[in-house]
Amino acid sequence: MSRLTDPGEQVSLKEAFAELGTARGRQDPYPLYEAIRNHGAAAWLKPGRLVVTGYEECDRALRDTRLHVQDAAGYDATSPGWRDHSSLRAFTSSMLYSNPPDHTRLRAVAGFAFTPPKIRRLRSVVEEMADRLLDRMARLGADGSPVDLIAEYASRLPVAVISAMLGFPEEDQVWFRDMASTVAVSTDGFGDPAALERADRAMDDMTAYFTDLVDRRRRDPRDDLVTLLTQTHDDDPRRLGHDELMGTLMVLLTAGFETTSFLIGHGAMLAMERSSLAGRLRTEPDFAPAYVEEILRFEPPVHVTSRWAAADTELLGTSVPAGSRLTLILAAANRDPRRFADPARFDPDRPDNRPLSFGAGGHFCLGAPLARLEAALALPRLFARFPGLTATKPPVYRDRWVVRGLDTLPVAIAA
Ligand code: HEM
Repeated sequence: MSRLTDPGEQVSLKEAFAELGTARGRQDPYPLYEAIRNHGAAAWLKPGRLVVTGYEECDRALRDTRLHVQDAAGYDATSPGWRDHSSLRAFTSSMLYSNPPDHTRLRAVAGFAFTPPKIRRLRSVVEEMADRLLDRMARLGADGSPVDLIAEYASRLPVAVISAMLGFPEEDQVWFRDMASTVAVSTDGFGDPAALERADRAMDDMTAYFTDLVDRRRRDPRDDLVTLLTQTHDDDPRRLGHDELMGTLMVLLTAGFETTSFLIGHGAMLAMERSSLAGRLRTEPDFAPAYVEEILRFEPPVHVTSRWAAADTELLGTSVPAGSRLTLILAAANRDPRRFADPARFDPDRPDNRPLSFGAGGHFCLGAPLARLEAALALPRLFARFPGLTATKPPVYRDRWVVRGLDTLPVAIAA
């Protein structure tokens, strides 16, 4: 145990926060969150930067309409040169990076497709896709060789489902998955110039692909979301501009795929580590939703988000000057001992389990019903199909902070 992760040590807020930027810190950030929490549920890292680890405080900040998400104007103020990066530019035309009134308009344009009743109707589609992928895993692992559960199952299912909704051809799905994964590093900011450069190139390739697909759907409409969004743009570009159409497609593809893949990956890993849970997933049909909720709390795929104070504000018991940035550590809020008893214990039977893993307020995750459905179907099916599933190597986390999950999870499928 290092001094930074020893609960007995009083480590400065600056030191603990800086450690989150290192590969070692990102492999296990939870002790660092506790070191940060020791300085308060909302603590100033430096003037203009408030770090929030409390559950109630994160929840309040996410719902506070005086706080904004980083939008194009925000980037102009804080990150000169950001417009040179297509991977950042494309996302600022989406709902995730806009504030009202644009946010309200953009969310309404795509939101109709993600309502809980619409998502419930996808159940049999998800089941069928999961079973096809399990057949493939069975073939790949039949001779006893390890199969990477992330590459072959956890990441393929979400990309297959969202591709079917949007109307992307099946043969392009693995390409999409790899591109989406490459552009997603832009969420970690300007830290790694080489990764940002790769993200820009991937974004350019995806934009060219979407532009071509939109044209094809214009000529030959189908029963899919790309066609509907294209028609919305063509009918009234004030409702959905061209860049906004691209931004919406980009965010629907990228926001949901790695995150859901990490959710399924964590769920599989935790059940392999605790065989009684794998047994319950197999035999108790109603267990999966509670299990998924606890994975979301315990190992959230999105660790952190941020907000900006649009004006001088009194908030969370402190004066927040205009332009201040709030770093909201959702993964720390999910382990706030004032909200969750024995928070470092994985317990799917915990009562009133409402983690902040999908955010809260106006930007609450649009895809939450879809992600929950996919994980709640994928995990019981995985353990029913392969009752003897075991990990062949210790898990390795990807070296990223914002969207965090397992890089690979090699498993043996034999009983
Ligand atoms: C386990 C899986 C997922 C997790 C943990 C997750 C997490 C989140 C979080 C934390 C936010 C809010 C960010 C903020 O307020 O700053 C968000 C927003 C969003 N998510 Fe998800 N997400 C997941 C799956 C999905 C899926 C499957 C989709 C769609 C296919 C999706 C689409 C979106 C969109 C469009 C937004 C922006 C909503 C808005 O700005 O109004 N997400 N997600």
